Amino acid sequence: MRIGIPKEVHTGERRVAGTPRTVKQLIQAGFEVVVEEGAGFQAEHLDSMYAESGASLTSDVRALWGESDLILKVHTPQMHPELGEHEADLIKEGGCLIGFVWPAQNEEVLAKLNARNASVLAMDCVPRITRAQKVDALSAMANAAGYRAVIEAVNVYPRFLMGQSTAAGAIKPAKVLVIGAGVAGLAAIGAARSLGAIVRAFDTRAEVGDQVRSMGAEFLELDFKEEGSGTGGYAKQMSAEFIEAEMKLFAQQAMEVDIIITTALIPGKPAPKLITAGMVESMREGAVIVDMAAQQGGNCALTQPEKMVIHKGVRLVGYTDLPSRMAIQTSWLYASTIVNMIDEMGGSEEFKIDLENEIIRGALVCHGGQTTWPPPQAEPAPKPEAASQQWTEEHGAADESSKENTGKSKLGSIVLWVIAGLAMVGLGWAAPDSFLSHFTVFVLACFVGWQVVWNVAPALHTPLMSVTNAISGIILIGGMLHLSGAPSEAITVLGAIAVFVAAINVSGGFLVTRRMLSMFQK
Ligand code: NAI
Repeated sequence: MRIGIPKEVHTGERRVAGTPRTVKQLIQAGFEVVVEEGAGFQAEHLDSMYAESGASLTSDVRALWGESDLILKVHTPQMHPELGEHEADLIKEGGCLIGFVWPAQNEEVLAKLNARNASVLAMDCVPRITRAQKVDALSAMANAAGYRAVIEAVNVYPRFLMGQSTAAGAIKPAKVLVIGAGVAGLAAIGAARSLGAIVRAFDTRAEVGDQVRSMGAEFLELDFKEEGSGTGGYAKQMSAEFIEAEMKLFAQQAMEVDIIITTALIPGKPAPKLITAGMVESMREGAVIVDMAAQQGGNCALTQPEKMVIHKGVRLVGYTDLPSRMAIQTSWLYASTIVNMIDEMGGSEEFKIDLENEIIRGALVCHGGQTTWPPPQAEPAPKPEAASQQWTEEHGAADESSKENTGKSKLGSIVLWVIAGLAMVGLGWAAPDSFLSHFTVFVLACFVGWQVVWNVAPALHTPLMSVTNAISGIILIGGMLHLSGAPSEAITVLGAIAVFVAAINVSGGFLVTRRMLSMFQK
């Protein structure tokens, strides 16, 4: 099976959909790879490097598209400036294409691809599920973009980010506000913190508060209750009242902070306008706003996509090519997600479009001459309360059978409790005293253990695991007790071994915990 990697023709795009490293992986997996000459040049990947990886090189763009079974791209196919033909028209009849497609905005391109009977997998449509993380190109790019947004801000910010005490006087650290703590927002928080800034963040999804705090930033909260989580790990559109309340918060913050990085977006919707011209004008001289949502209209009223403009001393950065500005790294990240996607499709041996595979089905936007986007929605399992409420609404509150069922389940749980109680009484009566004292300790340990784990923030579960591991080294005491006065030498030796091994467990556990906690403190 032949894979073709053309040079990106989108203006300013430096990334490439295959790097020498990933090309080598594909060849080792049994594919034949053809790369357009100069395809990786802007990402510092020379033709000679592709040749060394085992790829063939060609300057014949038409042949590359027309003779490859699978085309790997970064950008949506577009008019080829040199050939004067649309890339989508060049694809082999019945061929396959993997790349960013943005089907909602590119109906005409989909029609062209359907006319060629192509199967198209859009990397921007990969469902955000745990199993799909290895093919989540959007998150990989957003992570790089969040980092780069901070670097671009620092590049035009005329002050230090970290605080310093110098002979000339003290310099206060810069204050950075990140609006939207999704993938890009969290990466921006991490980068700004590591450069020494004081970071604050806001998001409509209250559950990201813990992640923000664990990265050393302050999570700003509103005195306004509205659930911000939608489906699939994304946010939902908020009410006008909520937006108004958060804008009041941003108006206050704008007067205090030096840099604002906005990433607020709900997929498929225009970016909410959250920073007004007035807020921009209220910022300190030299302040910077990086509007990462510029492509979707921007979160700031004054953003100009693809440009950096200065408004009354405030620099507004609206670059839409942040991942492309780190082309070596992002080409490799993107190309790796594609290799994983090809692997998910069966590799070279069993390459196929499996409509039962939720990752493939989610990303598939064209197949068999038809647009297959959006994919059919899997019915979310109703929450128990929601389900019972729906049942009441559909069947009426006075539905006798529902009352009867609820009554039966209540009766069932009462019976279970009574049986458990009787079993306890029987145990207390029949079991020997020594068993009862151990059993009491066991029950209390279960209860305390459950309460401890349940009340610890999920972000701290891993350090907690290592500390409990250390505490479980309590066996050390048991070993020490056997060291003195043991009836036989064998017991003393075993005791010494137990002390040695448990000591490693205890000290190692605390060491790992300390290292993990310091990771969170960075
Ligand atoms: P994401 O969906 O993971 O994060 C967006 C966050 O915004 C979510 O946490 C959501 O809860 C939050 N949000 C939505 N509405 C909000 C509101 N009204 N107020 C506060 N928070 C709100 O998206 P991701 O992947 O982090 O991308 C963020 C933005 O960065 C997107 O606009 C994306 O298009 C853009 N992006 C820009 C690039 C560039 O070169 N400029 C490159 C990559 C991504």
